[in-house]
Amino acid sequence: MPKDGYDLVVVANRLPVDISKDDDGEISWKRSPGGLVTALEPVMQKADGAWVGWSGGPGLEVDPFDADEMRLVPVTLSAEEIEKYYEGFSNDTLWPLYHDVIAPPAYHRQWWDAYRRVNQRFADAAAAQAAEGAIVWVHDYQLQLVPKMLRDQRPDLRIGFFDHIPFPPLELFQQLPWRRSVIDGLLGADLVGFQRAGDASNFIRAVRRLTDHTTRGPIITMPDPNGKPGRHVRAAAFPISIDSAHFDELARTPDVQARSQQIRDDLGNPEVIMLGVDRLDYTKGIRHRIKAYGEILADGRLDVEHATLIQVASPSRENVGAYQELREHVEGLAGRINGEYGEIGHSAIHYMHHSYPPEEMAALYLAADVMLVTSLRDGMNLVAKEYVAARSDDRGVLVLSEFTGAADELSSGALLVNPHDIDGMKDAIVAAAQMDRREQRRRMRKLRRRVLNDDVSKWSDSFLGVLTAMPSRTDHV
Ligand code: G6P
Repeated sequence: MPKDGYDLVVVANRLPVDISKDDDGEISWKRSPGGLVTALEPVMQKADGAWVGWSGGPGLEVDPFDADEMRLVPVTLSAEEIEKYYEGFSNDTLWPLYHDVIAPPAYHRQWWDAYRRVNQRFADAAAAQAAEGAIVWVHDYQLQLVPKMLRDQRPDLRIGFFDHIPFPPLELFQQLPWRRSVIDGLLGADLVGFQRAGDASNFIRAVRRLTDHTTRGPIITMPDPNGKPGRHVRAAAFPISIDSAHFDELARTPDVQARSQQIRDDLGNPEVIMLGVDRLDYTKGIRHRIKAYGEILADGRLDVEHATLIQVASPSRENVGAYQELREHVEGLAGRINGEYGEIGHSAIHYMHHSYPPEEMAALYLAADVMLVTSLRDGMNLVAKEYVAARSDDRGVLVLSEFTGAADELSSGALLVNPHDIDGMKDAIVAAAQMDRREQRRRMRKLRRRVLNDDVSKWSDSFLGVLTAMPSRTDHV
């Protein structure tokens, strides 16, 4: 550790590695492929950075260690804290509330207590690592109280927060019994970033309604200890992306290309392969998509000899009831449609409850004529961007829900759908399946220009650029 700490500290619920402990208590770790680490690794290495995150298992205590030129600082959570802070408040209260209450949020005071306690632990760990005047970048809905908790201890820090998921409209956010504490928590930051401009304006509206602070455009003025105008907080959109060039390159490698051909061969070389790739989450609209697909088969607009749907649904949050119910529904529906329309050698749906490494994902994207992203609500949706980055052949059609953050950027090349409108979605899916190559190329080129240009390093550079350019705390007091 450098003498007085690290100049850049990232705080996120998860570390960029998976840690495991064998029977002799020996610790090992494996890099976990995630968008955030790809984005932040170069800046972390340059800036002498530390990353604070959950060790990943119940009661797992691990000392800070260095990995890939980053300092990793594991935070320990007990089994009870995982249940109340992670599965409970984060994923059964905030997650559904912030995603348009697609599932009903549960409000439990004990979960809130655990959320506060765990947020404090993350804030303490970050405060202990940060050098004088360092930048601390806090991520996502699991840690919304950390900015204020940090500022209370370390007013010298420059604090950024990025919300990876939607920020809900006031009418929904108001349901949260602890809404004011959450707003105060976030306002501990100098810069609060969101995926879409709409999320930032929802946040500013909540600040206006729930506090007495004055706001002007994207700027909120906080009162100083004497009630006079004090420091400023900026709220703005910074749409996240992927490492587009890397994904593009990966998809061009001979191994990936061969694997993609093999996938097509294994499926019997149908005319149209459709693909869905999601965490098995009720926000993703998987049921709506499969229902629409089943109806298209029933109507005879596509048939199993010429078309098939691959649905990859990676396991997620399996201890939370709403996720268990969703799995039952999706698997029941896929089974029924296969039973009804499948033939020997021709499945209607190939359903896989697994996650795959990036090479296999790239091969699947290349094999897919149509990519279906039909979320009911989604902060961004990076799968849509990965599909585009993989298609250097300018082929393939992206069917994209208008309720994703990605739709704000990709509307001109994708076929936009409202997943609640099953008939409209069916028409878009059939249109995608029948689209001629010229039109595919015209649309895919537009999409690729956007995705290759606005990549994840641009995202982190612009967030950190704005944060660094903001007047420091001492300019205001
Ligand atoms: C979303 C959230 C992330 C989260 C990820 C996986 O993308 O924004 O914060 O890490 O889902 O969910 P999990 O609960 O497994 O961390």
